[in-house]
Amino acid sequence: MKLNLSAILASAVVALPAMAADVTYRNDVAPLLKKYCADCHAASVDAPSMAEFKLDEEKYKKDEVGPRTDTYEHVLQLINGNSTGAFMRRLDDGTNPYAKGKPGNMYRYLGETEAERAANFRIVNDWVVGEGNKWDMNGIKQRGDMPPITLEQLRRMKLKY
Ligand code: HEC
Repeated sequence: MKLNLSAILASAVVALPAMAADVTYRNDVAPLLKKYCADCHAASVDAPSMAEFKLDEEKYKKDEVGPRTDTYEHVLQLINGNSTGAFMRRLDDGTNPYAKGKPGNMYRYLGETEAERAANFRIVNDWVVGEGNKWDMNGIKQRGDMPPITLEQLRRMKLKY
């Protein structure tokens, strides 16, 4: 019998369960941060760790560098570590209730066009809290009318490596 390879392959593809791949740091988020943020947030431009940044914010702002976002560990500082919430507040598209319609000041770096920024925003949002959820902007401390983050909010973060 002559094997029809393409028919076999086609049936194998159909047999696979429909599965949405999780957003991961190494496949999706690291390349995005490298492309859009590394000019000001990577070791290659002498960007500081968040701890270093806090020691002399004025100097780093003058140098136009922000805390490093070029390793998984550095980024987590800004999401669920010492500076919990910083990433979400700065990158928010303005639709979070606490953002009051104003996008965070790093949102504009997510792309050249609104469509590109929205698509990249979705990737980082889904990486943090999972597809279909909207992230929280809460930090360790109360900020204006925004309460501190809860253990439940921390626990629902995905942040898959
Ligand atoms: C042109 C340079 C530049 C680019 C590009 C840039 N940033 Fe920034 N970022 C800064 C500077 C300078 C600061 C510190 C000043 C401030 O807080 O706004 C900062 C601050 C931040 C902070 C807040 C740190 C804190 O104090 O809590 C976060 C989070 C952040 N950036 C994330 C990003 C991400 C993610 C990207 C890529 C999508 C990005 N930034 C792109 C220059 C940049």
